[in-house]
Amino acid sequence: MKEQNNLMDKIVSLCKRRGFIFQSSEIYGGFGSCYDFGPLGVEMKNNIKKAWWEEMTRFHENIVGLDAAILMSPRVWEASGHLTAGFADELVECKKCHHRFRKDLLEKNKCPDCGSQLTEPRKFNLMMKTFVGPLEDEASVTYLRAETCQGIYVNFLNVLNSSRLKIPFGVAQIGKAFRNEITPGNFIYRTREFEQMELQWFCHPQEADKFFEYWKEARARWYLDLGIKKENLRTIEILPEKRAHYAKKQVDIEYKFPFGWQEIEGIHNRGDWDLSNHSKHSSQDLRYLSEEKKEKYFPYIIETSAGADRSFLAFLIDAYCEIKGGRTKTTKAVKEQELVLRLNKKLAPIKLAVLPLVKNKPELVKKAREVYQLLKPYFTCQYDELGSIGRRYRRQDEIGTIFALTIDFESLKQDDLTLRDRDTMAQERIKIVDLIKVIKEKLNVSKNNS
Ligand code: GAP
Repeated sequence: MKEQNNLMDKIVSLCKRRGFIFQSSEIYGGFGSCYDFGPLGVEMKNNIKKAWWEEMTRFHENIVGLDAAILMSPRVWEASGHLTAGFADELVECKKCHHRFRKDLLEKNKCPDCGSQLTEPRKFNLMMKTFVGPLEDEASVTYLRAETCQGIYVNFLNVLNSSRLKIPFGVAQIGKAFRNEITPGNFIYRTREFEQMELQWFCHPQEADKFFEYWKEARARWYLDLGIKKENLRTIEILPEKRAHYAKKQVDIEYKFPFGWQEIEGIHNRGDWDLSNHSKHSSQDLRYLSEEKKEKYFPYIIETSAGADRSFLAFLIDAYCEIKGGRTKTTKAVKEQELVLRLNKKLAPIKLAVLPLVKNKPELVKKAREVYQLLKPYFTCQYDELGSIGRRYRRQDEIGTIFALTIDFESLKQDDLTLRDRDTMAQERIKIVDLIKVIKEKLNVSKNNS
């Protein structure tokens, strides 16, 4: 347990030290489990979202995208069931220290902080309330969306009528969601503001089971293809009493975090819950008319709902690799420990580091800067001339940079450089004229832009 906490501490420290993640409003002492993604974090998170978006919209024929507003009519949330007990957690309070906890996350019926008695549970709604317009009265209340998918359901007819899609088809969306979590925690695992990557797949009710299985497999494969180790990923079926209020069937994809197996994505068969409720509340007919079958029906929805932040944390932890004694055998100064972030090529925030062998030789620096300018429009690169070359390699390994390109004295004569692979540390000489083509091939950017 101590070792696992230790690993989380190391991850949090790496995130801050190297600019992946900072505490929100840190100079004011931080703010309620909110986090900011730093220069490397934003690159990596964008890469995760891009990998998801491509998987959905480029590698499937009948999936289109949407970007709905965060603020919607409060009637959306009445219809969806989020304003009622369906979207509430049971809250208990310690009678002595007054700390509050989610009942379902407690192992014992005692305060985990001081061991005292707890109050009876009461329902606590997770929707974040806000006001639109100048008056802060009941009539101007609305909510920050608690899940992105409602924006897709209320646009079901718009998408259908504007894009000539036929069932089955999907709508993909990435965006922020907000929940007033009682006990946020475990770094970015449970926060009050987070990002979801959701696909809503509309299908005939009779085909819902088949598509549920398809999407369950496809979504688990996505994590494995992006480097998550098989032993750290599992899918588990959620029993009826634990399911979300809209779900007829639910499977969670879980990752083995240092703090235990936890959900990173939910696969839901939402049946006709959403479209039939929105039909009822809006008095619009949201049924689908099948010309071929001469049938009008509410499509069933199979939803895949992934968290960009939780995936980020899982990818980061899975890639984190400490090597005792270090990997470098050529230098005498054996490092106590080296850190390599073995991120997948698509996810690594920086693809290339351009390094002059030494910084006190102007001709090497000049050439290295030329190479950097050449590559910068094509790949995310860093230029680094500070410290010994070994130290710079290690600095790049620590943030998962895929290749380090070193300009040495040979480079001046041969117009080439050495390319060092992060994982194998193997080096090869590449002509500068071939550089872009070779790196594109190595990163496989012809299929998925890097
Ligand atoms: N539309 C369905 C839905 O929202 P969910 O299981 O409540 O389903 C889906 O959430 C995903 O959103 C979760 O698997 C998780 O990755 C992410 N998520 C939910 N609440 C979160 C929170 N408080 N902090 C970070 N991510 C969260």
